[in-house]
Formats: sequence, structure tokens, C-alpha cells
Amino acid sequence: MNDSLRTSNLLTVNDLSPEEMEGIFRTADSFLDLSSRTVKKVPSLRGKTLVNLFYEPSTRTRTSFEIAAKRLSADVINISTSQSSVVKGESLLDTVLTIEALGADGVVIRHPSSGVPEWISKRVQCHVINAGDGLHEHPTQALLDLYTIQKRKGRLRGLTVAIVGDILHSRVARSNIMAMTRMGISVRLVGPPTLIPKYLGDWKVEVFHDLREGVRDCDVVMTLRLQLERATASFIPSLKEYAKLYGISPGVLTEARPDVLVLHPGPINRGIEIQDEESFRGHSGILDQVHFGVGIRMAVLYLLMAGGSKGE
Ligand code: CP
Repeated sequence: MNDSLRTSNLLTVNDLSPEEMEGIFRTADSFLDLSSRTVKKVPSLRGKTLVNLFYEPSTRTRTSFEIAAKRLSADVINISTSQSSVVKGESLLDTVLTIEALGADGVVIRHPSSGVPEWISKRVQCHVINAGDGLHEHPTQALLDLYTIQKRKGRLRGLTVAIVGDILHSRVARSNIMAMTRMGISVRLVGPPTLIPKYLGDWKVEVFHDLREGVRDCDVVMTLRLQLERATASFIPSLKEYAKLYGISPGVLTEARPDVLVLHPGPINRGIEIQDEESFRGHSGILDQVHFGVGIRMAVLYLLMAGGSKGE
């Protein structure tokens, strides 16, 4: 494999050029071939240790990084902060320096505060990978979303994607908006005024408050989780009204292209963001996102870590 990355950490999708994203997708293609083999392992990261350090709950991202690293033959340690010395008051920096002193070559970190992965990356020698930081970014989620779209649609450039729901609190939306526009996708943001950021900066996006108008003729509809743990419910009159106005249903999808692809990063609040998924199962790429996430994370770990330590 000849693809490489200029960065030694993955903190934001802005670390990646379009060519580097395409390189990650090519690398994921070759690793995903492994999943159909009896022995699903390659020795690329033998002797390396990856630590998953999650300060917030996760099912998909943590498990996917663990499977990805194990398929590359790395040793993987999962630290649940509720079972660690964090509960005795150990600081974030002391925790990460301890992990590095124990011999970690890479740390995958999820944290409720924006900017933590970058702050850590300036203080350690090991590779740092952002698995979601506050309201900021979730770069591997955006990579696997784009990869799923490319796999299902055969291309990225020229497509129109509607991102629906709580854009304001969504690190998934932020990473996707930047990655998608960089890859030539037209992005629409669809949601109630209270859940769309007032300041869009240099994002080249169209904003819609009416769901049917927003998804009209779209190739992809990506609906987001209402982040109830971040008090999102206080930004809408009621969950019932939100579901009625912004829930993705078979009726709403008749406005989109006939071959529309429906994505959701998970976990889903069923009956709120998505209604009656069974009736549009053929359009759903939600489990593809999970499956392709392993290949994307293998590619990211391989391209960051197979060559040696940071600075080598
Ligand atoms: N999409 C996502 O980040 O899911 P988890 O919170 O389960 O990791």
C-alpha cells in the first residue's frame, strides 16, 4: 500500500486533504477484504499497543476501534474512566501520561470537552486519535459516512446530502459538513431554527427548516440523533412535535431521489429521528456504516501507526 498521511494524529477532518481521504478509502477497501476470510488478521501492527480512553459512553466507536486494532494484530487496552483512577480525581493529563509511560503507541480518546484530543496531542509522543470531542468533531465517523456513501452510490462528487436534525450540538455534523464539502458534495442542513447554528462561518451549505423541502431530490438523507443527554430537548417544543416535523418516514422519503440512501450515526432514538425503518430497509445504510467503520478505523490506525512512533 502506497498511501500515507502527513499527520501523525487524527484530530479533525481538516487534517486530511481530499487525496488523503481517498487514500484512507483505498486502504479500507483492502482491509475489508479480510472480513470475508477465515483468519481475519494481518500482522501490520504486531508489537504496538493501542489504548481506548473513553470519558463518554460508546458502543460503535470503541468496539470498532478495538476490532480494527486486533485485526491489525495490535494489543488493545480499554479504559473505562468510571473504573479508573479518574474517579479518585486523577487529572486528564496525568491519566494520559500514565498510559504513555505504560507503553502505549496510540490513544483513542473520547471526551465531553471540545479540543481535548488536540490539547493531549501537544503533550505526548504517542499517536492521538479523536473519537469524538464535545461539540467539536468526530473525524472517523465522517470518514466512515463518506465511505458508506461512496460504496453505495459509486461516487461522492456531485451528490446532494441533507443532514437533518440537531446540527447545533452534533460533532458528527461538523465533521461531515467539512469532509463532504471538501469532497465535492452539496450539503443541506435541515432542522428547526433553534438547532441550526446562527453563525455558519465559511461552511458552503444551504439551510432548510421544512423537512420535505430539505430532502427534495437528495441522494442521501443523514439524520442525526437528538442528543437528549446534552439537554437538546429544551431546544424543541416537545419530542412528539419534533418527531412529526423532522422524523424520517417513508412518506418524507418520497420527496427524495428514488434511490435515496438513509444514514444515521447511531444510536437511534426510534420513533423520533426515524420512523418505520422496516418499510424503507432497502434504502437504509445504517448497518453498512457500522460494518465499514471497522475498515475505516483499520485504515486510519495502519496509516498513522504502522510506520513507527510520532516523529520517527
Ligand atoms: N456513532 C457513534 O459515535 O456511536 P457510539 O456513541 O456508539 O460510539
